[in-house]
Amino acid sequence: MSQAWFKQSVVYQVYPRSFCDSNGDGIGDLRGITAKLDYLQALGVDVVWLSPIYRSPNDDNGYDISDYRDVMAELGTMADFDALLHALHERGLKLVMDLVVNHSSDEHPWFTEACKGRDNPYRNYYIWRSPRDGAEPNNWASAFGGPAWTLHEPTGEYYLHLFSRKQPDLNWENPRLRQEVYALMRFWLDKGVDGFRMDVINMISKAPKLPDAPATLPQRPWQPPGPLVFHGPRLAEFLDEMKREVLSHYDLITVGEAPNATPEHGVQLTDEREGFLNMLFQFEHVDLDIDPAQGLGKWGRKPLELRSLKASMSRWQHALHGRGWNSLYLSNHDQPRPVSRFGDEGAHRVASAKMLATFLHLLQGTPYVYQGEELGMTNVRFGSIDEYRDIETLNLWREAVDERGMAAAQVLDAIHAKGRDNARTPMQWSDGPQAGFTTGTPWIGVNPNYREVNARQALADPDSVFHHYRRLIALRRALPVVVHGRYELLLPEHAQIYAYLRTLGEERLLVVCNFSRATPRCELPADLAFEGQELLIANYPVEAGEDIRAFTLRPYEARAYRLH
Ligand code: GLC
Ligand code: CA
Repeated sequence: MSQAWFKQSVVYQVYPRSFCDSNGDGIGDLRGITAKLDYLQALGVDVVWLSPIYRSPNDDNGYDISDYRDVMAELGTMADFDALLHALHERGLKLVMDLVVNHSSDEHPWFTEACKGRDNPYRNYYIWRSPRDGAEPNNWASAFGGPAWTLHEPTGEYYLHLFSRKQPDLNWENPRLRQEVYALMRFWLDKGVDGFRMDVINMISKAPKLPDAPATLPQRPWQPPGPLVFHGPRLAEFLDEMKREVLSHYDLITVGEAPNATPEHGVQLTDEREGFLNMLFQFEHVDLDIDPAQGLGKWGRKPLELRSLKASMSRWQHALHGRGWNSLYLSNHDQPRPVSRFGDEGAHRVASAKMLATFLHLLQGTPYVYQGEELGMTNVRFGSIDEYRDIETLNLWREAVDERGMAAAQVLDAIHAKGRDNARTPMQWSDGPQAGFTTGTPWIGVNPNYREVNARQALADPDSVFHHYRRLIALRRALPVVVHGRYELLLPEHAQIYAYLRTLGEERLLVVCNFSRATPRCELPADLAFEGQELLIANYPVEAGEDIRAFTLRPYEARAYRLH
């Protein structure tokens, strides 16, 4: 069992555009982040992960990079970056950068060079194919709608883009491209950054020959390429090379974003000896409320079934125990707000936000807190599509409403539930104008509930969601069982209660969470032997010495005990 620091850490994700604006232009920036380090330190996190800050035309808010070695002008300068890194390190905090190297921007000089001709030395940095019967080379859909290919007319070939047409996929089959990636990684590591979050890293190796995808969305010309682009045949080889060339030379934290990953992939990629990365962002648990039968991809919704969440989380917990490592997350800049999605954003907002945090933070793995999650920030319901900014959301609207004639109200409903802008409204610092995010006009509207939900209120209230997160983070630091304990699911069939045990030697931690607004009865298994218990954390008042072998839980109640 290794004591590596990445296992003991809690990571805080900052989405720079939406975190804090220091100069009143309505866009969050690096100086804004530096100004808020006291806040992050009060929360107690160890690591800050920045969503991309590199130069970018912002087709996908920085996930389309036109210069990997410079800072986006809207966010500041390289000097601002150096100051932020220095300020973090002075406080003992670490910095993780987003590494977006499955694709670049179409405005990256590599791509503009590649467009100059089929024999340009940079042509092979990207993935080009001749037309098939005068049209796209295959039937792959882009993740943001439409085909995954765009014709470059002057040279007569299509280029592949699994995301927007302004995000051409890089050709990892080309060793020169791979060396460029390793060099840019070293550039940031040599500046002193402490790790990388690797954007869709399991998509860098594609199925040889790029065959058509099976039709899973009826009546659509473009089909999700699915397994043809995830965990391709050369993924392990590429990551092994990256490990040899770069990762193994630094003391880093690495997390690979890996849609479609199974626990077996998790073991393969994060195995402590033979793996390549410390942990993955897997998607199983955040895909459980998708209904594929509706043929709408992520926008087709069904309620989360708690039993399927238990089954999924438990598979991952067991598969990686003692071999690899998990990341733990319920939210990020691509996901709706967990309190709106899995809890109750109304009457039980505070209780359910604390319950979800308790559930997540006491599992085995490294917890990630996405900005505002620690305040129990909720989804936003903008009344018109004009208020949305996210490319995925705007493309959905164009395809579903403008092209296929779906009812606007129905599509807006889906956007309210699943749109990425739910996570991207400005951080709510105070009940002042624009939630204290900016003195100007924010690039995206503030959630109107900022008068009740904001950091100033949360810091002042000892019972706030913020202080609950702070206590959970402190528990992880105090109790090795939280970091290293073996996980065991209790009450696997219960439809409302998620209960689990963590065990390390003599230490046992019991976690009981009610995922509903009902008041279910918790009856612990008869063979769970203990003589007494110590309450570690809870989201309701608990009577001292209460018999916990059988007790009734209040709406969204969560408790953690140490058993003896
Ligand atoms: C990842 C990012 C997402 C981005 C996509 C393309 O999923 O998290 O925000 O749009 O990759 O880079
Ligand atoms: Ca600004």
